[in-house]
Amino acid sequence: MFILGIDTSCDDTSCAVVRDGRQVLSNIVSSQTKLHEKFGGVVPEIASRRHLEVLIPACSEALEQAGVTLKQIDLIAVTNGPGLLGSLLVGVGFAKGMAHAAQVPLIDVHHIAGHIYANFLGEELPEFPVLNLVVSGGHSELILMEAHGHFTLLGETRDDAAGEVFDKVAREMGLGFPGGPYLDRLAETGDPGKIPFPLPKIRGSKYDYSFSGIKTRALLEFEAGDKSEGFKADLAAGFRKGVVNQLLNPVEELLKETGARSFALSGGAAANALLRRKSRELATRLGIPLFIPPMELCTDNGAMIAAAGYYKYKLTGGGWSETESSMMECSAGLELRSWEETA
Ligand code: KG4
Ligand code: ZN
Repeated sequence: MFILGIDTSCDDTSCAVVRDGRQVLSNIVSSQTKLHEKFGGVVPEIASRRHLEVLIPACSEALEQAGVTLKQIDLIAVTNGPGLLGSLLVGVGFAKGMAHAAQVPLIDVHHIAGHIYANFLGEELPEFPVLNLVVSGGHSELILMEAHGHFTLLGETRDDAAGEVFDKVAREMGLGFPGGPYLDRLAETGDPGKIPFPLPKIRGSKYDYSFSGIKTRALLEFEAGDKSEGFKADLAAGFRKGVVNQLLNPVEELLKETGARSFALSGGAAANALLRRKSRELATRLGIPLFIPPMELCTDNGAMIAAAGYYKYKLTGGGWSETESSMMECSAGLELRSWEETA
């Protein structure tokens, strides 16, 4: 079965062809970084206009690289939220048109389910229950999956997302855009003990996160510091360690409590070198298999949407038919719900 996966939730336009939810035949990602860089953040209107321009060529390239024609596609999967509304609308509108032209079912995929399913594209599949730590520019969530399509939210950020604070602190420090990877690289050269960032105290759910305090503290430290290269590296190292410590703090307890048989990292910030190292250490110590997608499948891509779409299609017994698909809606704040089994 050939699945065409489309993601336009933020500032990357991506189309991919995946076979049977496992084999990535092509994964085209057209990045808009250059367009947004001078503004220091993603400009929603520019993002949606750019998606309009590049979706058709990106899709043609995905089909060509995969060596299949539109006629051979059996299912189209598209992100319908959460994300920037204008960007989502372009992707969903395009996917509807394609589904109609190819006369194939269309399936809607939640962006976070997509990130999670990037871990199902590898040689080995995670064994259920899977504890997922999803860390991206807009999300920091701990999600338990007891089976395909069963998502239980165990913890989430009360304020900023992990990727977002990496980006904001990096921007203030004058690093590149988006800031996460630049801050990560700089942190490798610094001493994380020079400027420590202790864990915040969060009232209520003990598995929730809060990154706004740590972000403000980093910004204040930067303002007060001497701005030397050594100082910037130490600040980046201390800040990164603080964020990663917080992200992994509830994981050991949750892995034990839930009886999880695998631990999976996903989302753009799963590319973070320290988070990958520390997760590996933790998983090895606990004897639990760790899954982390390759770098190109951590950040937004169509392949993960195709993978999630495939499993959703199998579980729910079908997508939107060619005639119904015009009714599919998208939502900027879409909630992650478990898929309903019909079979
Ligand atoms: O998943 P993604 O591509 O888009 C969203 O769904 O948000 O994630 C993008 C985020 C950005 O905030 C980016 O700075 C962050 O992932 N990121 C990183 C690293 N690489 C990407 N954050 C920390 N360290 C990295 N190496
Ligand atoms: Zn994402």
